[in-house]
Amino acid sequence: MYRQMAVDFEPHELWSEAARLDRHAFYARVREAGEPVPQTDPNSGQRFWVLARHADVHAGLRHPDLGHEVRRHQSDPAPARVLVSEAERLDSRQLICLDPPDHTRLRGFINTAFTARTVARLETRIEALIDGLLADARQRGTVDGVADLGHPVPVGVIADLVGIPAEDRERFRGWSRAMISGGRAWAVASEQFAAYLDDLAAKRRADPQDDLLSALVALQIAGDSLDRDELVAMIQLLLVAGQETSVDLIANGILALLSNPDQWQLLKDDPSRAAAAVEEIIRYDGPVEIAPPRYTFRGIELGGGAIPPFEIVALSLLGANRDPEVFTDPDVFDITRSDAKHHVGFGHGIHFCLGAPLARLQGRIMFEKLAQQLPDLRLLAEPDQLRGVNPRLTALPLAV
Ligand code: HEM
Repeated sequence: MYRQMAVDFEPHELWSEAARLDRHAFYARVREAGEPVPQTDPNSGQRFWVLARHADVHAGLRHPDLGHEVRRHQSDPAPARVLVSEAERLDSRQLICLDPPDHTRLRGFINTAFTARTVARLETRIEALIDGLLADARQRGTVDGVADLGHPVPVGVIADLVGIPAEDRERFRGWSRAMISGGRAWAVASEQFAAYLDDLAAKRRADPQDDLLSALVALQIAGDSLDRDELVAMIQLLLVAGQETSVDLIANGILALLSNPDQWQLLKDDPSRAAAAVEEIIRYDGPVEIAPPRYTFRGIELGGGAIPPFEIVALSLLGANRDPEVFTDPDVFDITRSDAKHHVGFGHGIHFCLGAPLARLQGRIMFEKLAQQLPDLRLLAEPDQLRGVNPRLTALPLAV
C-alpha cells in the first residue's frame, strides 16, 4: 500500500487526501525531493517550507537563524498582534515560543526546579496510579486505551509534580482538558487556572512543600527574575505540552505492540525491554508530527535549497524518524533495534523536550506493567483516528 501510494501525490500537497491518509508515504516523497518543499496552508493561505530528512531536521532544530521571535529580526515588522485576553498574554510567554535570551533565562529556572530527583520522586506515584488503572481494566474486561489508560496518567502525574492538593484534583482535571481544546473553553480555563495558581503560589510561599510550584516560588523569593506571568505560563505549558503527547505515547504504543504480535511477545518474555520499546514507539509513531514552526531570521540554505527571509519552516519529526539514511528498515517496528536512539521525537537543541525524562518514566512503567499484568490484551476493533496534520488516536477498544 505504501509503495503504491507514494507515486500518487506530490510532495507540496501536505493537505491532499492521499497525504492525509498516509503521512509516512507523504514524507518519503518530501525526503526524496531533496530540497525544502513549499506548501500553502489552505485555511490561512500562509506559505511554509517542509523538511523531512533526518540530517536536515536535525540541522534545522539547532539552526541559529531559525526561531520564533521573528519581529526582533525585521527592520520594519508588521504591527504586533494585540493580545486581547490574559490567556493570550500568558501563551505568548511560554518557553516553547521564545528565543534566547528569554528562553535561556526561563529554561535555566525550570531546569533548577524540575530536576532528575523531582522525576525520580514521582516513580512510586506513577506505579501506584498505573497499578490502579490496570486493576480497574482487569475487573471490567474491556477498556479504551485512550480514555482509560492514556488520559488519566499524565494529568495525574503533572498534578503530583506541580503539587496540586488532592481536594483540587477534579477541578484540575477539568482545566487540563479544556486547556488543550482551544477556543473559548481554553481561554476561560487558562484564566481560571491562572487565578487558582496565584492562590496556591501564595500558600506555598508561606508554607513550602516538596513540589515544583514551591521550587519556582523559592526562586522568586531568592530574587531571580521570574515574574508572575512567566511562572504561571511555565506551569500551563507543562500541562499542555505534557498531556496529549503522553496520551499518544501510550495509545500509539499499545497499537504498535498489538499490531506486531512478535514484538508484544518479546516484551512479555522480558518486560525489562520496556524502556527500549518506548524509544522505538517514539521513533516509529511519535506523538509530534511537526516541531512547532520556526521562522527564518534571514535567507538561509538548508536541506539542499534556499529559504527566503521571514518564512515559516516546518521540520517533520515523523519524516526524520523514518529516514532510511539513518534507520535500517525504518517502516518496521522493532523494539530491539539499536538505532532507535537517533530519533528526534523529543526534538533536539535548545528546545529539546523538557519533559522527556518524565515521559520516558511514565512510558516505561506503563509498558512494563501492561506486559506483566495484562498479557492477553488484544484489539477489539479498528481504532478511531483523527487524520491529517498531527493524526492521533481518539479511541482504542481493547479486551483484557
Ligand atoms: C518540548 C515532544 C512529553 C514538556 C518538546 C519538543 C518536542 C516534545 C518534540 C520540542 C519542541 C520544539 O522543538 O520546539 C514530546 C513527546 C512527549 C513529550 C514526544 C511524550 C512522549 C512531555 C512532558 C512534558 C513536556 C510529559 C512535561 C511534563 C515540554 C516542554 C517543552 C517541550 C516544557 C518546551 C521546551 C523548550 O521550549 O525549551 N516536547 N514531549 N513534554 N516539552 Fe515535550
